[in-house]
Amino acid sequence: MGKRHLDIALKVNGEDVHERVEARKTLVDFLRDDLGLTGSHIGCEQGVCGACTVLVDGEVVRGCLTLAVQCDGAAVETIEGISDSGAIADLQEAFQRRNALQCGFCTPGMLIGAESLLSHALLAEGGVPTRDMIRDHISGNYCRCTGYQAIVDAIESVAQTRAQAQVQVRAEKAGTR
Ligand code: FES
Ligand code: FES
Repeated sequence: MGKRHLDIALKVNGEDVHERVEARKTLVDFLRDDLGLTGSHIGCEQGVCGACTVLVDGEVVRGCLTLAVQCDGAAVETIEGISDSGAIADLQEAFQRRNALQCGFCTPGMLIGAESLLSHALLAEGGVPTRDMIRDHISGNYCRCTGYQAIVDAIESVAQTRAQAQVQVRAEKAGTR
């Protein structure tokens, strides 16, 4: 019996995508093979390592456990999208400065996970996540190289800088009223 294919329409990094995909194709394979977005990596293919992490409608998702057809109508963001927009420039700079990456295989997933934590923590609580919160949040992203300490340092430093910037913005707004 032939493979079943379906038409899907979704947004990927803000651009409309219409493709015919095999029903069983995973999201990460679709992104890499069909769209050439190879920043999302494939490690365990079992939902364990986090190398394939992307955002679907703003939620952190494992690209290896999600079928491309499940994303019909959704908005998908990959490491390419959030890098090109400049949204995580501070995180990328902090990862470099703090030696939070070596081989870089885990880094796209780590950055997406970190950004999702920082946006949620700052938006919801107006504060800086604790180191335990950071560790907990990235516990689903495996790194074979760094020992995690430098990654937590990098994320924590960006959280502090962003929180300070928020305080400054609020103070400026209060001063103009
Ligand atoms: Fe998806 Fe490891 S490749 S979690
Ligand atoms: Fe090599 Fe994390 S930097 S796996």
